[in-house]
Amino acid sequence: MTEDRRDISEDERAQIIDGLLAAQAQVAPKYFYDLAGSRLFDVITLLDEYYPTVTERAVLQRYARDIAATFTAAAGRCALLAEPGAGSCEKVRFLLPVLTPAQYLALDVSVDFVALALQSLRRDFPQVRMTAAAADIAQVAQPWPLPDDEGSRLFFYPGSSIGNFTPDEALALTARIHAQCRGQGGLLIGVDLVKDTAVLNAAYNDALGVTAAFNLNLLRHLNRLIGSDFRPQQWEHLAFYDEAAARIEMHLRARETVTVRWPGEDGQASERVFAAGETLHTENSYKYTSEAFEALLANAGFAQIHRWTDAREYFGVFLALA
Ligand SMILES: C[S@@+](CC[C@H](N)C(=O)[O-])C[C@H]1O[C@@H](n2cnc3c(N)ncnc32)[C@H](O)[C@@H]1O
Repeated sequence: MTEDRRDISEDERAQIIDGLLAAQAQVAPKYFYDLAGSRLFDVITLLDEYYPTVTERAVLQRYARDIAATFTAAAGRCALLAEPGAGSCEKVRFLLPVLTPAQYLALDVSVDFVALALQSLRRDFPQVRMTAAAADIAQVAQPWPLPDDEGSRLFFYPGSSIGNFTPDEALALTARIHAQCRGQGGLLIGVDLVKDTAVLNAAYNDALGVTAAFNLNLLRHLNRLIGSDFRPQQWEHLAFYDEAAARIEMHLRARETVTVRWPGEDGQASERVFAAGETLHTENSYKYTSEAFEALLANAGFAQIHRWTDAREYFGVFLALA
């Protein structure tokens, strides 16, 4: 497979262009994930500085039995395990043997990548019915392609992807998941916790420059999606922790004056001029204290919340029962 092709709707195209033309230019982080972006993210998870993946994996590995027992005691056997933003579907490997769901559903905007990941997962867990489906969970008006099942549902949302949403959006998303539990089932969610600023800054500014490549690859993806003429060599990676907002911000900063053009509706080219030093904001990654995240889950409607974490309390895994 070379480049995946993802068609975008007219609305999505308009949203991207509005973002490029905004005073602070911005683009949604879901556009990181073409095939190359998904692969670059997988490399990020192997880097020394990027503690979230190893830490979350260790927590899941250590406590998978506890998590499954807690879920089953409250909700019965899991009929459907659904993972939004499933990506490489690696972390679910800790849950499948202990939860033994009848069905696993992987939802992602980058569905070609997820379909590849499912091929090897199916070989290792032949007893579980597995499906990959395209879904953009940031689109509030778009229903999730969930099956018409009867039993209890567990939504699995690892990787602190919830941090890409503002706290208000995160509340709306978790409330939506709560509604989709239909009073039975729950949400197992991994969240990156507030910690030392130097540790956070290092995680998003790795020495090999893989996070920079991941960030810059967004420009190639945008070129394919909207026909723009971004030249990655004119941009540089910028990532920093904003303590007051409790979030990492990622940007691409123009190294020089840059004019970006793309075809407009009437065939006329539209453009944005970026002054040297001006940025395109590409991602927020909000960090939470355990208490703040538990309060968010309670506000979303969940009745009972359990938490597992690592010894340094770098990363929290929360099981919120409907
Ligand atoms: C940071 S990766 C995490 C992958 C995996 N869940 C993990 O924990 O390692 C984020 C994944 O979410 C997907 N994604 C990003 N935005 C999305 C959206 N709005 N709707 C659905 N999937 C999305 C990406 O394609 C990517 O596979």
